[in-house]
Amino acid sequence: MSAVRTVTETRAYAKPDSKSAQLWERAQAVLPGGNSRTTVFMAPRPIYAAEGDGCWITDVDGDRRLDLLNNYTSLIHGHAHPSITEAATRRLARGASFPLPTAEEIDLAAVIAERVASVDHVRFTNSGSEAVMMAIKAARGFTGRPKIAKFEGAYHGSYDWAEVSLGSGPDEWGPADAPASIAYSKGTPPSVLEDVIVLPFNRTELAVARIEKEAKHLAAVLIDPMPNRAGLIPARADFLRAMREVTTKHGICLIFDEVISFRLGYHGAQGLFDIRPDLTSFGKIIGGGFPVGAVGGSAEVMAVFDPRGGKPKVPHGGTFNANPVTMAAGLAAMRLMDEKAFDRLDEVGRKLRSGMEACFERAGVPGAVTGMGSLFRLHPAQKNFVDYRSGAASKDENARLDRLHRQLIDHGILISPTGLGCVSTAVGEAEVEYFLEVLNTCIHASKGESA
Ligand SMILES: Cc1ncc(COP(=O)(O)O)c(C=O)c1O
Repeated sequence: MSAVRTVTETRAYAKPDSKSAQLWERAQAVLPGGNSRTTVFMAPRPIYAAEGDGCWITDVDGDRRLDLLNNYTSLIHGHAHPSITEAATRRLARGASFPLPTAEEIDLAAVIAERVASVDHVRFTNSGSEAVMMAIKAARGFTGRPKIAKFEGAYHGSYDWAEVSLGSGPDEWGPADAPASIAYSKGTPPSVLEDVIVLPFNRTELAVARIEKEAKHLAAVLIDPMPNRAGLIPARADFLRAMREVTTKHGICLIFDEVISFRLGYHGAQGLFDIRPDLTSFGKIIGGGFPVGAVGGSAEVMAVFDPRGGKPKVPHGGTFNANPVTMAAGLAAMRLMDEKAFDRLDEVGRKLRSGMEACFERAGVPGAVTGMGSLFRLHPAQKNFVDYRSGAASKDENARLDRLHRQLIDHGILISPTGLGCVSTAVGEAEVEYFLEVLNTCIHASKGESA
């Protein structure tokens, strides 16, 4: 099969008088650093999007790129899928939001509860960050305990407690059996750090020992079964089973953060690993491209939100919770994802990952690919990927990844600066072939560049 297009330069944005440059000038006057979302900043300045269609994004200067980032994994059908657009606009034409519940939230909650065995009840939020926050609050409300445990390097959004030790470096991260609790944002109260126990990922004995030691104070163990920022390294099944066992033994809530990993299968990552957490946070794909989050869990734990007997243990307002436009779009997106659709997506993801590995091998350039299902993360070096520390790149390796990323951006491919990417259902064989051809070109080009 021939590629969808030949490799071309997509550098119009870099001209000093480009439309992106002009927007960037205006942005800096009214937004801090011209930015509303730290992740989308790109030095020396970002590229502005104009529109998206399937797996392609056109920027404001007219260059088209293959979108393998899908708004950081949230668009499982790519851009402007006709069924999702139709569902959202039909709902929008009848009113965007109300001070009353709507039928759509019941339908989307039912889809999630039907697919995820650990979920009886669902509450919607407006982001994955809020979903994680509400899961932690639910666990505290349910257990009456103050502390949580989370894994080093794992990203769970911007709730203070969930951010701890997200980006700690070798000079501060402490011993392997007791990673230090390091603030991510300046000004994080010391009390937050005292209430977060940091665990090593995929290191069963060390993590279990630490949980046992802190058990009587722990409301929750929060885990992403394939934490992106910690390397997109899948959890070992026996490690997850150990986490389930030790939390059950001590009455601690096990929270799965499936904000990204829900795209790993019809029953989510927990279905693949056959683990039933007490609470799960969702986001991204369940909103069909609109802002969304949800926390789900057993009826017993989720009862902390139940308002029928007066003020609930954990009150949870939110002007836009379960917004009907989001619910309608999310429902359309999820209904398109039957088990066969997940199988097809996984197959495309597998081909992409093995093709990427082959590109590095052929070029004789150090590189590796982690991930599962539709997700991949490109690393600038081959390592023994087990946890955050073992997967962490050196300064030189990161500089090499930066150069490769820039080459990809300049040759029609969009992935994240950290090497994260994913496929949507809009990606076919021709796009995979195109991507691998560009990657090959870029690996060679970045090989020739100096740091
Ligand atoms: C695993 C995980 N949890 C939570 C979040 C936060 O979600 P949101 O960006 O919707 O607040 C993210 C976002 O990327 C995530 O990857």
